[in-house]
Amino acid sequence: MDNLKVVILAAGQGKRMKSEVPKVLHRVLDKTMVGYVIEASQEAGADEICVVVGHQSAMVKNTVKDMYDNITFAVQKEQLGTGHAVMQAGDFIKEGNILILCGDTPLITADTIKELCNTHSNEGNDVTVVSMIVEDPTGYGRIIRESDAFSKIVEQKDANAKEQEVKEVNTGVYIFKAEALNSAFAKLGNNNSQGEYYLTDTLEIIKNAGGKVGIMVAKDDKEFMGVNSKLHLAQASAVMKERINTEHMLNGVTITDPANTYIGKDVKIDKDTIVYPGCMLEGKTVIGKSCIIGPNSRITSSKIDDCVTIQMSVLIDSKVKSFTTVGPFAYLRPNSSIGEHVRIGDFVEIKNSNIDDGTKVSHLTYVGDSDVGKCVNFGCGTVTVNYDGKTKNRCKIGDGVFIGCNTNLVAPVEVGDRAYTAAGSTITKNVPEDSLAIARNRQENKEGWRKKVDKG
Ligand code: UD1
Ligand code: CA
Repeated sequence: MDNLKVVILAAGQGKRMKSEVPKVLHRVLDKTMVGYVIEASQEAGADEICVVVGHQSAMVKNTVKDMYDNITFAVQKEQLGTGHAVMQAGDFIKEGNILILCGDTPLITADTIKELCNTHSNEGNDVTVVSMIVEDPTGYGRIIRESDAFSKIVEQKDANAKEQEVKEVNTGVYIFKAEALNSAFAKLGNNNSQGEYYLTDTLEIIKNAGGKVGIMVAKDDKEFMGVNSKLHLAQASAVMKERINTEHMLNGVTITDPANTYIGKDVKIDKDTIVYPGCMLEGKTVIGKSCIIGPNSRITSSKIDDCVTIQMSVLIDSKVKSFTTVGPFAYLRPNSSIGEHVRIGDFVEIKNSNIDDGTKVSHLTYVGDSDVGKCVNFGCGTVTVNYDGKTKNRCKIGDGVFIGCNTNLVAPVEVGDRAYTAAGSTITKNVPEDSLAIARNRQENKEGWRKKVDKG
């Protein structure tokens, strides 16, 4: 559709969330609710997007700005109703096709938005509202028809007994021709039980002025579920989770227990990867084929190549190349880059380090701010001492190095190719290649000591 401009209403407080965080910033899986609405709009081909903020406007605005480019904001200082909220968009709604969405309906899809745009232009409507038929219409505005055609929308609080029985309700999603919307705004009042400027009233105004009002009945109610409480948030998350997991399974990913697997919308997983229960895969994570992920792993914005095994581990902003195994109980902190055929074993923490191909860091080791070569073997209990209380320093470990158990490598320090460190050493000086560094006291045996002690 040409000149598609989206206004997203996000000024409300959301009292029922019982939260210090503005409603639209609550997350469904790993993404804010308003984020889903923005992305659905972009996917549907929106030319411009305006978010109407009000309650805690700075926080909503900054969070949205950090995530998305080219968003316009309008501020609604006082929440005087949905019509008043849209009016605050000012020049943004002066021309074009104006699509209204709510920031608290994260389940809406781009396909539905496209269908609405098509219906609207094919029927030549001045405004098209999306309705849905629900078992329990309580709380919604009712769509009142007159011999099938649109008559008006009546809010719950203004509806008479007969109108309250109507099960076709307003989803709160509409598309307007800008001229029709602006002429209706000129006539919009707030003479209703809540003293609010209702956007819903503009449809009746447009109809009375001889305009054409269309209704598109939604195929799937779930898409229009408005989140007003933490209970709704969990329900919306369950729907989103099922939707995302289904797509992965249809693409050839094995998810052994979809109810217990939490994958963010932007995560990509290639076929024949198996995801075991208790995994949270988040952010811009990309996982290759034939990997084994989980159980119980959290992977955030990381790139995992093919045939990698990750068990019961946490990975953040890191990269792991093919045929590597991570865990159980490993922690890859930001900016860690792990090569091919590497083993990162149990109780190992890696931070801001590069570990090259074939290296084994099998147990109880901390590698921070280090560059590690190929086929290095770390003995159990190795620590890179990267922080002197003031600054962080790097360790450099060459190819084929053997680090003895319980070695401290006090950075900055370099261990040359093929060098050894003796178990229990605290290495403070560079170790030349091919040498053995021993940095501990020589053992002394006091023979017969026990017998002397026992005699007193
Ligand atoms: C609205 C509709 C109702 C519809 C329902 C669907 C009106 C008058 N009623 O009712 O017909 O069935 O949505 O969910 O439009 N907002 C602002 N500024 C305001 C008021 C609201 O930005 O001054 C925002 C809210 O943050 C929210 C959205 O608009 O995102 C909807 O407002 P809400 O108060 O939830 O409307 P409902 O009473 O549910
Ligand atoms: Ca309301």
